[in-house]
Amino acid sequence: MKLLLDRREALQVASDAVLLGLAEGGKDAMLPPALAPEDKVVGGAIERAWAAKELRGKRREVTIVHRSDRAGRFVLVGLGARPLTAESLRVAAAEAAKRLRGKGIRTVSVALPTFTAGEVPAAVAVQAIAEGLTLGSYQYLQYKANNETSVEEATIGLGRVHGGEEGSLKRALAESTKLLDAVLWTRDLANAPPNIATPAWLAAQAETLTDLGLKVAVFDEKKLAELGCGGILAVGSGSRHPPRMVVVEWPGGSRKGRTVAIVGKGITFDSGGISIKAALGMQEMKFDKAGACAVLGTLRAAAVLKAPTRVVGILACAENLVGEGAYRPGDIVRTYSGKTIEVTNTDAEGRVVLSDALAYAVDKYHPDEIIDIATLTGAALTALGENIAAVVGNNERLENALVVCGTATGELLWRLPLTDTHREMVRSDVADVKNSVEPKIAGVLMGGTFLEQFVGETPWAHLDIAGPAYARLGTLKYCPPYQPLGATAFGVRLLTEYLLGESVAL
Ligand code: BES
Ligand code: ZN
Ligand code: ZN
Repeated sequence: MKLLLDRREALQVASDAVLLGLAEGGKDAMLPPALAPEDKVVGGAIERAWAAKELRGKRREVTIVHRSDRAGRFVLVGLGARPLTAESLRVAAAEAAKRLRGKGIRTVSVALPTFTAGEVPAAVAVQAIAEGLTLGSYQYLQYKANNETSVEEATIGLGRVHGGEEGSLKRALAESTKLLDAVLWTRDLANAPPNIATPAWLAAQAETLTDLGLKVAVFDEKKLAELGCGGILAVGSGSRHPPRMVVVEWPGGSRKGRTVAIVGKGITFDSGGISIKAALGMQEMKFDKAGACAVLGTLRAAAVLKAPTRVVGILACAENLVGEGAYRPGDIVRTYSGKTIEVTNTDAEGRVVLSDALAYAVDKYHPDEIIDIATLTGAALTALGENIAAVVGNNERLENALVVCGTATGELLWRLPLTDTHREMVRSDVADVKNSVEPKIAGVLMGGTFLEQFVGETPWAHLDIAGPAYARLGTLKYCPPYQPLGATAFGVRLLTEYLLGESVAL
């Protein structure tokens, strides 16, 4: 979607529809005076609908009123109850974009003052509106012939109220656009089907980032064997599409010296391996690469937004299948760190590939911090549902900082504890650690504790995104409207926010 900014009132900008934000009023609240000019154009129809309580400004309420001057329509978008936040506006704009789909409406203008409503800073509102419209209109259509039209162009009208802030708002919009490009790219990657998106394909997508000034290195199976990455090799051994480890580096700018490593689980398809999964819903396991895709998207955003810190992204990519070379329960594999893993369940493959990538990141880059992001456990989905990711780690400050960033971007995180009991539970009788523990309790914590064994003393946080990585059809209506069916790119906006170090906790 093309996003533009205009000093004029949205009403003065020619478009197929003018979007007007409307907050929920109190019991006898009046229609906000800011809507008087529009109400005049429709002969008081907005006021009458408000008085009749057909229009109430509720979250996700969208009302279309055709203009008497035949210049298109007004779309009244509910902002929900006050206080308004970035999230209220993101949800409202996304709901509007979705509801305008298939109506032949190609251009919209957005009346910014009706969205800021005197309480949201204009720059925050511009970003949230840009995100809502863009993310809410996204659909994965690469392989579909017939599609509905979506809004193609949105002009944010500053009007008299915000006209004076034009310069700073233009910058805010330009930055948002760059970030959103990275988010949409991430969604396209994560949505790609597993017959196309093999480990080598993911590596090739990473290589396109060299155009943006990022350094990219791809390790094939031969190089992985030389390095001693027995975990990635074991998981990938059941597939004809061999595994890859990919390192993407953003050298950073002003705050040179600080290095943040971000590690992603890139299982291009997770059948479970010999410990095979049930058939129902198995197609969803193409999203098991979502963590790695989020790492790529974050590195792209870090480059185009010129993040001050050095960022190293590492993708652990493999396909977990059942070919004759497949690893089996009972196998013991030696990982990059030298630590050995007893494989007790081939479906707990994410932690096995990450063990190599985490240890490699620590050994080669000595990062100040390391964050991994992975669709690691069904237990995360059970515990926190589809809209919240779990965060565990060995560093409270880092974990809390990530929670704050997630609150700002609408990518919610909840902290869970790791204890010595869990550390005892991952120990194996025949190897250093085992990848799955019976009985299967505290799945998120067991996954986290396993990973902890491979980061040494480095401050580390692990995001288990098995819930929010993708939106499922059955529960789509409970997801925020800016999360469409399929990949959400969860983590990209959050991690970018963290790297840019400007967490605006609204
Ligand atoms: N990729 C799955 C986790 C998953 C489940 C992601 C649902 C997204 C939605 C992971 O590899 C897995 O299968 N984990 C096992 C671990 C267990 C065997 C210890 C699980 O969660 O059952
Ligand atoms: Zn698995
Ligand atoms: Zn998996």
